[in-house]
Amino acid sequence: MSNNQNKVVVITGASSGIGEATAKLLARDGVKLVLGARRETHLKNLVKEIEKLGSEAVYAIVDVTKVEQVEDLAKLAMDKFGKIDVWLNNAGIMPQSLLKQKKIEDWDAMIDVNIKGTLYGIGAALPFMETQNSGHIINISSVVGHMAHAGSAVYSATKWAVRAISESLREEMAQNETNVRVTIVSPGAIKTELLESITDEEMKDNAKKFQENFGISADGVALTIKQAIDLPEDATWNEVIIRPTKQIM
Ligand SMILES: NC(=O)c1ccc[n+]([C@@H]2O[C@H](COP(=O)([O-])OP(=O)(O)OC[C@H]3O[C@@H](n4cnc5c(N)ncnc54)[C@H](OP(=O)(O)O)[C@@H]3O)[C@@H](O)[C@H]2O)c1
Repeated sequence: MSNNQNKVVVITGASSGIGEATAKLLARDGVKLVLGARRETHLKNLVKEIEKLGSEAVYAIVDVTKVEQVEDLAKLAMDKFGKIDVWLNNAGIMPQSLLKQKKIEDWDAMIDVNIKGTLYGIGAALPFMETQNSGHIINISSVVGHMAHAGSAVYSATKWAVRAISESLREEMAQNETNVRVTIVSPGAIKTELLESITDEEMKDNAKKFQENFGISADGVALTIKQAIDLPEDATWNEVIIRPTKQIM
């Protein structure tokens, strides 16, 4: 067991990919998990797996675009475990397309899930963390939150926004001596279900080929998140890019 034992970690988008891998890795350390996402069966199964790994978890059906549901996830953590040590804003979608395709529903959905979902998570966790005078908010951005390509405009913009929000939050927390840490994790190509959200078939096929060629397991990102949590509480990993070694861009 590491010093993570008895920590309480809330994860949005816990039902697959990076969120699920992180939950399982932390469970091995005895971390107590509070899981949010929309697919209940996945969450139920994950709770069982976490129990087999020797830890405890609860879940709630959460759509991160609904502020009340995100607030309820924070309340669930407080009711069940009495504190929130880490809040991982991980829920995200990536329906990429060319701007000229005017996929306005996809634009709106990315803005709602990736930006507003992150803001709602911060808003839900902060009051409790400020009262505790401790906490850690980890926001998942992306390599394409640092660079934009044809087809990535809106997704890149949302992930850029996550970085801007995180840096402002970091300064605000430091100014107020809240002891709340802020970390941005920006992954490269990771083999998850993320590409299923792409509605343009050609874009999806190309993204799948890229993921097959270069993608690595979500376990690498989970380990990065665990290492950020593991640092002594007076030190923060503010930003990390975790890319497959073979990924060029
Ligand atoms: N995979 C990559 O290459 C990569 C690279 C850079 C960044 N990222 C970021 O990593 C994060 C995790 O993605 P992933 O790669 O692990 O993909 P994933 O397997 O598709 O996981 C995405 C998670 O977000 C949840 N989610 C989607 N919309 C939601 C909503 N409205 N409310 C609540 N939860 C919602 C999904 O759960 P439900 O459908 O059950 O709600 C799922 O658990 C995302 O922010 C993504 O942008 C991924």
